[in-house]
Amino acid sequence: MNYYITTPIFYPNSSPHIGTAYTTVAADVLARYHRMLGDQVYFLTGTDENAQKIVRTAEAHHLEPQTYVDGVVERFKELWKSLDISNNDFIRTTEERHGKVVQQIFAKLYEQGDIYKSEYSGWYCTPCETFWTESKLIDGKCPNPDCLRSVELLKEESYFFRLSKYQNALLQYIEEHPDFIQPLSRRNEMIRFIESGLEDLCVSRTTFKWGIKVPFDPKHVVYVWLDALINYISALGYPDGENYQKYWPANVQIMGKDIVRFHAIIWPIILMALDLPLPRLVYGHGWYLSKDGGKISKSRGNVQDSFELIKRYGSDAIRYFLLREMQVGTDGTYSEDNLVERINSDLANDFGNFVSRSLAMVVKYRGGVVPRPVQDGPLEMELKTLSSEVKKGVDESLGRCDLASALEQIWRFIARCNKYVDETAPWSLAKQEDQQERLDTVLYTFVESIRIMAILTAPFMPGITPRICSLLSSDEHLIRWEEADQWGIINSGASVQKGEQLFPRIDISQYAEEVAKPVESEPKQETKHVELEPMKEEISIEDFAKLDLRVGKVLSAEKVAKTDKLLKLEIEISGQVRTVVSGIAQHYAPEDLINKSVVVVANLKPAKLRGITSQGMILAASQGEVLEVLTLDKELPGGAQVK
Ligand code: ME8
Ligand code: MG
Repeated sequence: MNYYITTPIFYPNSSPHIGTAYTTVAADVLARYHRMLGDQVYFLTGTDENAQKIVRTAEAHHLEPQTYVDGVVERFKELWKSLDISNNDFIRTTEERHGKVVQQIFAKLYEQGDIYKSEYSGWYCTPCETFWTESKLIDGKCPNPDCLRSVELLKEESYFFRLSKYQNALLQYIEEHPDFIQPLSRRNEMIRFIESGLEDLCVSRTTFKWGIKVPFDPKHVVYVWLDALINYISALGYPDGENYQKYWPANVQIMGKDIVRFHAIIWPIILMALDLPLPRLVYGHGWYLSKDGGKISKSRGNVQDSFELIKRYGSDAIRYFLLREMQVGTDGTYSEDNLVERINSDLANDFGNFVSRSLAMVVKYRGGVVPRPVQDGPLEMELKTLSSEVKKGVDESLGRCDLASALEQIWRFIARCNKYVDETAPWSLAKQEDQQERLDTVLYTFVESIRIMAILTAPFMPGITPRICSLLSSDEHLIRWEEADQWGIINSGASVQKGEQLFPRIDISQYAEEVAKPVESEPKQETKHVELEPMKEEISIEDFAKLDLRVGKVLSAEKVAKTDKLLKLEIEISGQVRTVVSGIAQHYAPEDLINKSVVVVANLKPAKLRGITSQGMILAASQGEVLEVLTLDKELPGGAQVK
């Protein structure tokens, strides 16, 4: 099948940000998913350069518009590259391939009487590049709730496009194609808008020169929205291009809710007037808002440098966050602390940790060689059933552009796999002679689960896929969408590696000013008391249950430079190695701790001590000058719970 997906073409009046990134990442996921399905995919993005506001911004920078946009467009291209966007094409509306198609279409519509000359007298909002009649203004300002800025009075000779003529045909089309505009709330909004009556649209300007000239009347430039919408077919080489024949009509045109009106009304009417098929789906997503509730936008100046964010957290984590946090039909909230929270919980704790702890066990118990599974028990059956449910659910969600729900389902599988580790307790199987076959089955199931996770997450986090493949010592032929609910794909005897954490936990205090907690300079257990501490107030069992206390095995210990109090420990908990900085250097020589099983507060927020991120705290008892680290009487594997 052929599959054509587009993003809006963005105004290059300043660098792209998290909002523009969201749309583009969402489209990228769908493009990658369809490639995995075996479809021939064409994924288009680009920039909308012939706008009046571009002229104004360029003037403010004392640059020619073309010079100005050339610079910003490079930023867009760089950002898409660093976010692993797999677009097949990038169209700029200042390119000749675009301009000539716009002129051709303008002339055709004029010849057939759908465009006519008259005079425009009314208002214009340059930030929105939108014409408004007097009656629509609110307090004399732009009525767009996200804008509300001053409008300018225009009175000029203009060409008009007969939107009104097509009003009924469009309404009928929308009624006959219930899936054309999604989600439903946007569709209803559009129907109400059309029913309130469409006026003919002014489609040319004479008061400035930047833009595409009306071919038969060159003192007019084409209105930027008429020009911009045509990019979706000019990029395909309309009317004769091979790509046009192959890919039009688009399968999905995705955009923010601010511009659904242009794509669900003006664009379909242009296509109807040209007698061309309409896109199959116009999808309008919500906005990313900042924590104070305002839309993230260039004009509000509340945008964070996207390049810096990618440098800090990586493209995969940012893609994951953006997609996961925007629910269908609503807005999402962006903040750096939400982002870090998601990275630490969903990516580091759930996904990364499953991969590293389960592979660590294959290494530890089977020397890294994938064993042969012997017999499925009820737990394995349950995982298999779940994997088909999840794959089906993800296919269905992606079919309606519901990326957040697709991710939720994938994480349901990951959570179930984590539970499977605890239920099967391979560390105790390992100790029982008669359980070795069972252990083989469990370890094999781990490896297969990782493969399935790698497939399901591949469209969302393409940077992770090759990393997982290399842990499974395989090339990417293991990543086949149709095998996301198949088991028994990896050969027994294949070798796997433990590797590094896929997603290291992030210490938020390192970056985000607004959420930085005061970092303790000394760990708690370092305080020495001559007298007994008074008893603390009573707590409930629920309060106690919030603590995740685990047995941890000390793998290495060393003094922290330039302090005589701190030791840096590497502690293994369920196959995961954590760094813990502890104030016990005056009581223990590093070598005395190695191989000891200690008690770790495993869910303590990471804190930075002398530049080292400490991921937890070890328990010790102290009185006066004496301090004793709590250790275990008998050996238990790292990860065992302390209750
Ligand atoms: O409107 N949250 O360009 P534009 C989510 N050139 N998405 C956001 C967002 C946010 N806070 N901010 C921006 C234009 N977007 C025209 C389009 S198409 C023929 C012409 C995304 O640079 C979202 O997709 O103002 C929105 O629709 C688009 O950027 C607007 O980009
Ligand atoms: Mg905008």
